[in-house]
Amino acid sequence: MSEAPFKLHLDHPRETPLGAPFEVSGWVAAREPIKAVGNGGSDTEWLALHERSDLRESHPEWPHLVGFAGKLGSGALSGDSLALELHWGETKTIHPVYLSPVSPPPDHLQVRQVGSVWGDRFYPAGREMFDQIAGVFAAADYPLPQAKRILDFGSGCGRVLRSFAEVSHAGEIWGCDIDGESIAWNQANLGHIGQFYTNPTEPPTTFANEYFDAIYSVSVFTHLPEDLQMAWVRELHRIMAPGGRLVPSFHGEHYWQKDPGVAAEVKETGFAYRTGEVTAGLPDFYMVAYHSIEYIHDRWGPWFEVVAHHPRCIDGAHDAVALRRR
Ligand SMILES: C[S@@+](CC[C@H](N)C(=O)[O-])C[C@H]1O[C@@H](n2cnc3c(N)ncnc32)[C@H](O)[C@@H]1O
Repeated sequence: MSEAPFKLHLDHPRETPLGAPFEVSGWVAAREPIKAVGNGGSDTEWLALHERSDLRESHPEWPHLVGFAGKLGSGALSGDSLALELHWGETKTIHPVYLSPVSPPPDHLQVRQVGSVWGDRFYPAGREMFDQIAGVFAAADYPLPQAKRILDFGSGCGRVLRSFAEVSHAGEIWGCDIDGESIAWNQANLGHIGQFYTNPTEPPTTFANEYFDAIYSVSVFTHLPEDLQMAWVRELHRIMAPGGRLVPSFHGEHYWQKDPGVAAEVKETGFAYRTGEVTAGLPDFYMVAYHSIEYIHDRWGPWFEVVAHHPRCIDGAHDAVALRRR
């Protein structure tokens, strides 16, 4: 027989509740009647308690079984833990429950997308990037959560797109990528968030003209040779509604100034493309591209107007631009 005064079960311990207030539910088995379960953090919030006699058969060693459910604010979070306060008899205790993030994609797909295995950081890091991308849309007077149809172009395994599970939004969400294996993984694991499509290496896609009103693209134009890049700029223009916003990331000065040869070429022509090792699972064209903001103005200008440039705004590294579809 266990000596612990209680045993606590949380229903969804693998989902990190990043937004607040968030739903929390579970049950406590205890030696003495549980009087209260709530927020052990800075605020005082109590969860509703209810009988869990249905658990009696499977937990005969515990005399008291009580369920809890309700909403808590972010004050209940302490780092990656949820601090629950429990009261029983004359005693109270703060019980931390570790909340690991939702399961990341398989290791080889993480390596393909981001170069190494990020494990449990994969989706939380994507959430930070999502907030940065959403900030670029908001600064361009175009709140992403209010867009009607949203495309993550080159979504990979939904590192950024998965954040739509955590933010309230009104849109139909799509992710597309040339990597059919990542798209299949998304369909199986993120199908509750959006729809996914394996696009060909070169346009066109099967999306209708003017379908999307918001498109973002994290670290895709950072890998394309110039001709393919321009073909996709024209295609994204075709599938975007007039006046819609496109937010791509690119390797700006922060990257190209590190290599004098690349810097000289970007200063001269606005663009550079360098080949090197092929990424396993992706085509040979997938290398490294660099841009100047002047190039985006000039060369993308017939299709998209630059509304704002945010140097190093994605993860302190990639530049992002807010573009308005002409
Ligand atoms: C560095 S990964 C980034 C993935 C994802 N955006 C993220 O931030 O996790 C680049 C992605 O671009 C995809 N990609 C490359 N060329 C593409 C194209 N022409 N159309 C769609 N996706 C493409 C790759 O397959 C890969 O998934």
